[in-house]
Amino acid sequence: MSEPIVLGVESSCDETGVGVVRGTELLAHVVASSMDEHVRFGGIVPEVASRAHLEAFVPTLDGALAEAGLTMADVDALAVTSGPGLTGALLVGLAGAKALSVAHGLPLFGVNHLAAHVAVDQLEHGRLDRRVVALLASGGHSEILLVDDIAADITLLGQTIDDAAGEAFDKVARLLGLPYPGGPHIDRVAADGDPSAVAFPRGLTAARDREKHRWNFSFSGLKSAVARHAQRERLAGREPAVADVAASFQDAVCDVLTAKAVEACREHDVDTLVIGGGVAANSRLRRYAEQRCADAGLELRVPRLGLCTDNGAMVAALGAEVVRRGLTPSALDLRADSNLPVTHIVA
Ligand code: KG4
Ligand code: ZN
Repeated sequence: MSEPIVLGVESSCDETGVGVVRGTELLAHVVASSMDEHVRFGGIVPEVASRAHLEAFVPTLDGALAEAGLTMADVDALAVTSGPGLTGALLVGLAGAKALSVAHGLPLFGVNHLAAHVAVDQLEHGRLDRRVVALLASGGHSEILLVDDIAADITLLGQTIDDAAGEAFDKVARLLGLPYPGGPHIDRVAADGDPSAVAFPRGLTAARDREKHRWNFSFSGLKSAVARHAQRERLAGREPAVADVAASFQDAVCDVLTAKAVEACREHDVDTLVIGGGVAANSRLRRYAEQRCADAGLELRVPRLGLCTDNGAMVAALGAEVVRRGLTPSALDLRADSNLPVTHIVA
């Protein structure tokens, strides 16, 4: 018997995503982003995001079903992001998914957005059938996870103690006069820069941090160092060399992220590293990860760019694993939880 078809709904931030999967097979994946409406504010405006989800929900759903060549009658189960994320934005996806559940008599599973960023890799590289370490780097989170079972058992090894990696990219981009969201712009500009031009700090990598912060990250000191560097240059009558500063900053972030993730694999005797979240789209991060995993004899799994940033396929991918394990569906009073911890995989 073929595996159940699961439709996933994502609405935790600015992307309305609907994805359809059959087991680990991606059938469709459509994303509508309200980013254009947030750019002039230099960050996501929650009310604007919520309204955009409301407008995009039905067209995105229709688009995904059309892409899959299916109707709701073919769908076996629904999955929806119940957290973490912006409460108002999450509520729109939850309300839409609940309506579909009632209208079509389908089981509904509220799932964790962060775990979904890891689960999506299954659509590219097949089932995660053994213990892996996952590095999750997005706009709101930077975490190292020990994943024993993507649908049931995730341990948080460490996380950022201040800014998330993507947040650091966004803030530094603003300092350098680059548009929001900063990650892709820094990545682009850095291609023409020298990553060793400025020696920026590597947070929480000193010997004294090993005991308490071995798996934690800190990026706010790095952000301040970039600000101080730009200020010093301007005081000296020069404009900061944007490409060099971007490349050096990016190098500092990606160096620390990948060094700690690879060390976590070694420490826990794990042979596979999965990288997920929007920052996994970063070219330098990918290069560092490839090189370090090859050196350490680790298998590296990074989903393609379009599946790294927020989307509905990742929610469907995790939903499919939850369905496969025969877990009980969520109740219809399923709530949004803006702070849902990564260890809470199914709501
Ligand atoms: O996972 P995601 O789409 O949304 C959250 O759940 O936060 O991640 C968005 C973050 C933003 O901070 C964005 O600047 C960053 O991912 N990002 C990148 C790149 N593409 C997106 N950061 C660095 N390099 C990139 N190429
Ligand atoms: Zn995300």
